[in-house]
Amino acid sequence: MSGALILAIESSCDETGIALVEDGRRIHANIVASQVALHAETGGIVPEVAARAHLRWILPVLDEALAAAGVTVADVDAVAVTYGPGLAGSLLVGINVAKTLAWVHDRPLVGVNHLEGHVYAAWLLDPGQVEGPAPAFPLVALVVSGGHTFIVEMRDHLAYRLLGETVDDAAGEAFDKVGRLLGLGYPGGPEIQRVAATARHHDTAFPRAWLGDSLDFSFSGLKTAARRVVDAARADEGLTGDPETPLPDGRIAELAWGFQESVVDVLVTKTIRAARAVGARSIVLGGGVAANAVLRSRLLGEADALGISVVIPRPGLCTDNGAMIGAAGARRFAAGERAGLDLDARPSLPLAAR
Ligand code: KG4
Ligand code: ZN
Repeated sequence: MSGALILAIESSCDETGIALVEDGRRIHANIVASQVALHAETGGIVPEVAARAHLRWILPVLDEALAAAGVTVADVDAVAVTYGPGLAGSLLVGINVAKTLAWVHDRPLVGVNHLEGHVYAAWLLDPGQVEGPAPAFPLVALVVSGGHTFIVEMRDHLAYRLLGETVDDAAGEAFDKVGRLLGLGYPGGPEIQRVAATARHHDTAFPRAWLGDSLDFSFSGLKTAARRVVDAARADEGLTGDPETPLPDGRIAELAWGFQESVVDVLVTKTIRAARAVGARSIVLGGGVAANAVLRSRLLGEADALGISVVIPRPGLCTDNGAMIGAAGARRFAAGERAGLDLDARPSLPLAAR
């Protein structure tokens, strides 16, 4: 590509992220202010609270990112910003900062789909990291986040065909809901992974929604199943009349393990099926749930057996961050795309059609 330096801004949900990325790959700085502690108090995101936190943090995060990269806004070739999908109030904070910087410094503005950012995180390289293999086309990308779960085929940069998506809850949403049912902290994903690793028995089975041969997903039934097994476990432990007493840790670990197995099994099986169907050379994994260690290792193992390369960003680049927006924004910038100062937030913005 052009060697362009992109200033990238992400504020679609609950992380304020600003990064400087060169050539769509090389991270010069990637600062993320997380609101996780704030939203843990309410067990989920309150949109108004999230937007206000973005407003509070975005300029300090910008200053820190520029300082870490040792540049000023005058040094950048373009400003890229997430314009959807996401929470309207949160998106607007990033969009308005991006527009202001682009206008004041007379730099091009590039709008980026957040989901495209999760895919392009696979091309990123950390400072000092030796050039790794880039994903090879054709590829399939599985994006699994708190709000989205889908598989796309890519035969070239920026060209997507939807192969399958969730018909109800996203995988991350299922982790968060079941985490809450098990009395674990927010967000549920990392907590479920942590306690599942301590399980000593591995015989609690959760259902799998295969939906026939389809590459679509369904996770809403898992919440009902979790409620049922939690109730059964409580009866088993003689806790039915005692809602305040939590299940023993060992029981919670087993249930977390069974749930995680079910989600990982369906995600990996369908992704491998998709990769075989399109003759993929690579599989890319992205989104917050891609930080899950069991999902990562199982996908790596199964793809390796088929000679398909797997590219999974390190966990900190799977969850929301500015660098992934810089990686995707660089591609759009190189393709000549420019957004006007009328760029608006798009709370609902699909990445691809079938
Ligand atoms: O991509 P992301 O940071 O934000 C969205 O765009 O939604 O994804 C957040 C989601 C949450 O649902 C969280 O529980 C999940 O990613 N997550 C995990 C893990 N780390 C984060 N799920 C399973 N295992 C993990 N280790
Ligand atoms: Zn995300």
